[in-house]
Amino acid sequence: MNKNVAVVGCQWGDEGKGKIVDLLASKADVIARSQGGANAGHTIIVGDTKYVLHLIPSGIIHPGKICYIGNGVVIDPFALKEELDFLTEKGIDYSGRLFVSSAANLVLPYHKLIDAVEERNRGTDSIGTTMRGIGPAYVDKVARNGIRVADMFAPDRLRKRLEHQLKIKAEYLTGSDDERADIDRTFDKLQELVPLFKKLICDVSLELTQAMKNGKIVLFEGAQGSMLDVDLGTYPYATSSNTTVGGALTGLGLGPKVIDEVVGVVKAYVTRVGAGPFPTELMDSSGEKLRDIGDEFGATTGRPRRCGWLDLVALRHAVRINGVDSIAVTKLDVLDSFSKIKVCIGYTLNGESLSNVPLDLAELSHVKPVYKSVDGWNCDTTGITRFDDLPENAQSYLRFIADDLEVQIRIVSTGAKRQETILV
Ligand code: GDP
Ligand code: IMO
Ligand code: MG
Repeated sequence: MNKNVAVVGCQWGDEGKGKIVDLLASKADVIARSQGGANAGHTIIVGDTKYVLHLIPSGIIHPGKICYIGNGVVIDPFALKEELDFLTEKGIDYSGRLFVSSAANLVLPYHKLIDAVEERNRGTDSIGTTMRGIGPAYVDKVARNGIRVADMFAPDRLRKRLEHQLKIKAEYLTGSDDERADIDRTFDKLQELVPLFKKLICDVSLELTQAMKNGKIVLFEGAQGSMLDVDLGTYPYATSSNTTVGGALTGLGLGPKVIDEVVGVVKAYVTRVGAGPFPTELMDSSGEKLRDIGDEFGATTGRPRRCGWLDLVALRHAVRINGVDSIAVTKLDVLDSFSKIKVCIGYTLNGESLSNVPLDLAELSHVKPVYKSVDGWNCDTTGITRFDDLPENAQSYLRFIADDLEVQIRIVSTGAKRQETILV
């Protein structure tokens, strides 16, 4: 790999982006996160050690790689501190190789409080957010009420902007005895983090551009998945950022020509956490089997993930809106013991055929999947590292996906560990 690659999730998140980024990071110099926040949970397993990263780019595990958190990320400074302590505990030295944009907005304790209240207020229409304060922080950013990393270093401005929150968020904060509503406490706790953040801040756009001018290779690490994109996903059952490749550019301050290849990460089946339409969801024993074998429990919240068959209609959407060039198919091994595997090749809505995702959520909620059933391979593929060593039916399954999507398969993942991988 001697080009800049953007890694994006093609489904509803948790596709295995962490593993793929970790893998590709060995060939990059710089790894950058551009959107989302601590709602992400990216798992990397190296040897016997498991790392789950929420804010810090997955490339940090590789000694010597430089990692950036861009302006488009909403940073919970306390979560970041915890993650840094976790890295130190694991013997990973991040000093001098992790940098944070001073233009990034902060997720503060009151955002989490508001996230919880808003979810409660939605009642039966709740989204099932990660409760990490992501939505409320992006609301503040867009409404120009946010507090940025740079504000941490100007105590007077910080206090003024915090006090302003009491006015505009009175309905949540006034009279609350929840400590997250306590603005003075938040101010004091932020001050404690100033020395740490002073060492981390930079102008990410400027530094990345300079790095590329010096011939460095950049890997863009997407968070969440395309179907959770705030514009093009299953809104309002979405996250609050652009999870698609455009988010990588605005979230880091770069122009469109810096990305040479878009790699879409595609789980060999589908999972979703939280509420919202999911046409191929399995409510039967096959769904449970996928959850059991795939160990489908949230890396951030521990919630059981909803499971279903691969949905090519949703994937066509993801490929189009991201300009995906190639895909990394993950968790193929999870399908090893299914004698029949279904793939959704189209939808029907009131008797009419659809080959694309309808933008109206009410329609998407009522589509029925049209399946093609293929024979499974009934043998263990765990740890296979050569495409030709895969059973014939597994090869056909992969070719069928790539042909439909008109993309190359770049990587096939046959286990959670770094080396359990086929580079095609
Ligand atoms: P991300 O959010 O896209 O980085 O994905 P998560 O880390 O939330 O979830 C993916 C899960 O699948 C993690 O537990 C990974 O360790 C695991 N995983 C990744 N690739 C594979 C694979 O090929 N096979 C198996 N069995 N597990 C995998
Ligand atoms: P990674 O990067 C899976 C989902 C939540 C909820 C919706 C909105 O690990 O793939 P939010 O807290 O963002 O306001 O929640 O989005 N969600 C994710 N689902 N993987 C993620 O990240 C997710 N981040 C958010 O479950 O349905
Ligand atoms: Mg995850």
